[in-house]
Amino acid sequence: MAQFTDYIKIAETAIADSYISAEPQGLYAPINYTMEFGGKRLRPALMLMCCEVFGSDYSACINQAVGLEYFHNFTLLHDDVMDNADMRRSRPTVHKKWDVNTAILSGDTMLSIAYKYMLKDVSPEKYALIIDSFNKAAIGVYEGQQYDMEYEHRKDVSIDEYLNMIRLKTSVLFGCACEIGAIIAGADKSAQQRIYDFGINLGLAFQLQDDFLDVYGDPVTFGKEIGGDILNEKRTFMLISAYNHANDLQRKQLDTLLAQDTEYTPIQRITGVTEIYNQLSIPDLCRKEIARHTQAAVDAIFSLNIDPAHKDSFETLVENLMQRSR
Ligand code: IPE
Ligand code: IPE
Ligand code: MG
Ligand code: MG
Ligand code: MG
Repeated sequence: MAQFTDYIKIAETAIADSYISAEPQGLYAPINYTMEFGGKRLRPALMLMCCEVFGSDYSACINQAVGLEYFHNFTLLHDDVMDNADMRRSRPTVHKKWDVNTAILSGDTMLSIAYKYMLKDVSPEKYALIIDSFNKAAIGVYEGQQYDMEYEHRKDVSIDEYLNMIRLKTSVLFGCACEIGAIIAGADKSAQQRIYDFGINLGLAFQLQDDFLDVYGDPVTFGKEIGGDILNEKRTFMLISAYNHANDLQRKQLDTLLAQDTEYTPIQRITGVTEIYNQLSIPDLCRKEIARHTQAAVDAIFSLNIDPAHKDSFETLVENLMQRSR
């Protein structure tokens, strides 16, 4: 079996073959702009890898892998509108380069393209399983995104609520990638469930790390602006933990820094909140939480009855993702 980096390259080639040269350009240029550059391709690569782990050739799910990447990129177009984000993959976001209406409509089109690929060349007996898995994940993402926005206006969000929110907005798509790979390879129900659980835990660790990098990342490597979550008052693991551990003074400072009508500049708000995170050793807490979910992901893999060499490949993948800076 190939390594994860090989599956990324395979996914990249298949995505490059999917570019659309049709009219109107105003609709398709932003789609190609989004698909062509800088994505890590984790979800399609995971699907291809899972398909091979369960004994099929990756080519059996190449269309579904491309479809999932279209879906993921569609969510990013809309997410950047919702988060008022200016940069993604080191370039202006679609709603900045074009406008919000373009981001909405090109995003909608990408969702339909995703379904087109998802159902391409699927055998009749797998059709319902694939569409069910995909729809369940898609609706989960929308629910998670809704919680994410609602939580910006709630100060009493718990760690459990946060974990459920990121399970929905991020993990279910990782789970779906793994599950569809397993379905197409003909893995049994128990194996499908275990590989889904792997994807869920990997996704939790992944989103925790994304939130960490939103504060502590290098904008050049990360490709997104730093501090957006703080400016948007996102209830991340770090912010919730900071409130849980803060003394009265720190809690007041957090309230003042986070308030949208504050007299502080955006830079002062980001630096001020980061300083409180540092005082409270939030980075350490966050790393421990990431390690907890990473371990759960590895445990799910080791519970599978697969070739030990494949288990090692998954473990390497998990370790690499834990240390990622983009
Ligand atoms: C971004 O996902 C959205 C999150 C779930 C954090 P990725 O970090 O996988 O985005 P790309 O596709 O590699 O840019
Ligand atoms: C993204 O969460 C989840 C989805 C896009 C569904 P974020 O809002 O943290 O993702 P980034 O940081 O903008 O990529
Ligand atoms: Mg965002
Ligand atoms: Mg978001
Ligand atoms: Mg983020």
